[in-house]
Amino acid sequence: MYCNTASYGLPPRPGWEALQSALADWHGGRTSWENWGRSTEARALLRAAGGVGVERVAVGSTVSELVGSVVTALPDGARVVVPEIEFTSTLFPLLVQERLKVQTVPLASLVEAVAEGVDVVAFSAVQMSTGEVADLDAIVAAAAQVGAITICDATQAIGWLPLAAEDFDAVVCGAYKWLTSPRGSAFLAVSDRLLENVVPHSAGWYAGEDVHQSYFGPPLRLATSARRLDISPAWFSWVGTHRR
Ligand SMILES: Cc1ncc(COP(=O)(O)O)c(C=O)c1O
Repeated sequence: MYCNTASYGLPPRPGWEALQSALADWHGGRTSWENWGRSTEARALLRAAGGVGVERVAVGSTVSELVGSVVTALPDGARVVVPEIEFTSTLFPLLVQERLKVQTVPLASLVEAVAEGVDVVAFSAVQMSTGEVADLDAIVAAAAQVGAITICDATQAIGWLPLAAEDFDAVVCGAYKWLTSPRGSAFLAVSDRLLENVVPHSAGWYAGEDVHQSYFGPPLRLATSARRLDISPAWFSWVGTHRR
């Protein structure tokens, strides 16, 4: 039944109609592309949903690519704990980094696993497979005790579960579920300490401080805000996200 699915959300009428109109413009070659690109202003959704300002929000297309950016901020040898049935778009970007020590634990023991010697905890706020809701406050408190970085995949949460995104170092959210968007738009909210250490390894022109002055040649001139982690927008997905 649609109301009880974790796969995708039905499109709201405004988003659907804006998308059809953008597709018709594309089909007829009737407009330039800049307006489609500006739809990433939808990053402001994270303020409404999770309380973080737009300067802390980056955009991309998928959860795994955004977690892949976050992982660049983790030091060699960092000890990471993850629930054992975690969705792989959060788990695999960690596991592919052989320089990290990743340990999986039952979700029920996640809080106690965040102890002395743990550098990072990565987990879904709501598990995709079971709908189990993580004990967010307890995880944040345990991580604060030992100074661990918190990476929260909120894809199955934002849109229905109140979540204080500013409590975490990284909150990643694919918009095509409870934010009822087309597939292809995703958000990443980052803390200052994470932003300081992250390597924007997928940066292109769209991560530039002035996007339209960043098309060609050096020097590297990335945005100072979290926009430095932006990945060029999949236009039509973002139109549907912005106008939903
Ligand atoms: C918790 C969670 N994270 C991420 C995703 C999607 O990840 P990606 O955008 O990398 O395909 C899903 C999809 O089911 C999910 O349930």
